[in-house]
Amino acid sequence: MESITPVRIALTKGRLETEAIQIFEKAGLDCSELKDKGRKLIFHDRKNNIDFVLVKAADVLTYVEHGAADIGIVGKDTLMEMNKDCYEVLDLKVGKCKFALASLPEFKLYEGCNRKKIASKYPNVTRNYFRDKGMDVEIIKIEGSVELAPILGLADAIVDIVETGTTLKENGLVVFEDICSVSARMIVNRASMKLRKDEITGIIDKVKNL
Ligand code: PRP
Repeated sequence: MESITPVRIALTKGRLETEAIQIFEKAGLDCSELKDKGRKLIFHDRKNNIDFVLVKAADVLTYVEHGAADIGIVGKDTLMEMNKDCYEVLDLKVGKCKFALASLPEFKLYEGCNRKKIASKYPNVTRNYFRDKGMDVEIIKIEGSVELAPILGLADAIVDIVETGTTLKENGLVVFEDICSVSARMIVNRASMKLRKDEITGIIDKVKNL
């Protein structure tokens, strides 16, 4: 039996938005309101009793963890950084990129006894990466355009996501080490998975079987 409250899906604004919409359309969901969005924040698929919301990546996790959204689409990069409590149910295999350590070509990670400074939008990912290496580094949190940090002398290197490699290349930086692959994931609120199991597994299966 269909619940009265729609299942709510939080999508990440920006890079992943178009690919997520394409996936849900192929899965038979009505995304017409999402494709003609204007300044609206909530979009309805009345036929399937689903509401979509578009929010920033970190907020997708917050909405899903608190149950304000049942399902979320978010990058593995944000999941790794924020370590929130929810189920990661599907790798959507879109929004593919990687975490990498990058800097100017003359950078030497293992030379010199000074504590290296690493700038990143992802301090937790950076901390875990260097902890696994047994290296003590100073992490400098940056909000964007991280590639500037080694150029301006703020940091020795950066940990960031690399998709096409264009930003690194155009700013004269190179990858020193690949850290791990990243792609878009479907996440589900823990209580929703139990209370709305049929509807949610129905959506997961539709996407999984594309
Ligand atoms: C991301 C990332 C890199 C760039 C990588 O930044 O932090 O800067 O994309 O993509 P590329 O390898 O295809 O060039 P984003 O565009 O999100 O901007 P921001 O860092 O200014 O937030």
